[in-house]
Amino acid sequence: MTANAQAQNDNWSEEAYAASASFVYSAKIVGKLLNSLDPKPTDKVLDVGCGDGKFTANFLPAIGSVLGIDSSASMIESANKDYASPKANFRVVDCRYLEKETSIVDGSWDKVISNAALHWILRDETTRMSTLRAIHGCLKLGGTYVFEMGGHGNVAEVKTALLYALVQQGISIEKARDTSPWFFPSDTWMRSALEEVGFNVENVELEYRPTKLTTDAEGGLKGWIRLMGAQFLEALPEDNRDAVVKEICDVLQTVVTRGEDGSQWLGYVRLRGIAKKI
Ligand SMILES: C[S@@+](CC[C@H](N)C(=O)[O-])C[C@H]1O[C@@H](n2cnc3c(N)ncnc32)[C@H](O)[C@@H]1O
Repeated sequence: MTANAQAQNDNWSEEAYAASASFVYSAKIVGKLLNSLDPKPTDKVLDVGCGDGKFTANFLPAIGSVLGIDSSASMIESANKDYASPKANFRVVDCRYLEKETSIVDGSWDKVISNAALHWILRDETTRMSTLRAIHGCLKLGGTYVFEMGGHGNVAEVKTALLYALVQQGISIEKARDTSPWFFPSDTWMRSALEEVGFNVENVELEYRPTKLTTDAEGGLKGWIRLMGAQFLEALPEDNRDAVVKEICDVLQTVVTRGEDGSQWLGYVRLRGIAKKI
């Protein structure tokens, strides 16, 4: 099959992302990743799965130039509208097929960074290793790859509820698992995959980081499930999706809500790493 034939629906939009998941790119949440990036004014940086550019904007003032790449045309349009400049470019690239982008995979980048995107990009088992190999190929000798993504056990409560909701709707557990858009690897898997493609791994770590959901009317738990779980919901007839989302929110109500103030939290588990091309 060609890259085109495997194209995915573009479920992303700047508005839905801001309403349901603005914490993903907030300076507070990405602080450790940005420390690992250690940005320098001469750095030429590739941002893999850059989204709408709001994460990129955190380090843009401190570097020489950046190219952000993402498979969502809608997110790239927003990034170009808000942040394009002589030192910042954004392009639609499906990073499952990054190795085909010979103008990017050219050994010229000082640093590659990726936040909250690799668990989507590496979901497809058939392109997982070629994507990591291409990231390695992007870097100069001595270049650094830093990333943060969902790790083993990430948002386990929502993933369980989504899988079970599909099974309740008559979908087989095998098909429900196939529908999942996420790959949440362990630190052990990630370290060995990075080494296999030639990286010298300085650090890979898992961190349990409970994360507070937004209180935006269009966001919260419902908005998060609609945006992040879109591929699960696509397995259901359209006229049934609202009812299923409501059911999932009801099931999760006491699991994610804190008694003292009613705030809702998901069990994020982050996998962070630093690897060098030597
Ligand atoms: C949760 S967002 C993170 C965006 C940004 N890095 C940030 O921190 O705000 C995940 C992003 O991964 C992108 N993505 C998913 N699959 C992809 C693929 N195959 N190639 C490139 N980007 C992909 C989505 O389009 C989306 O913008």
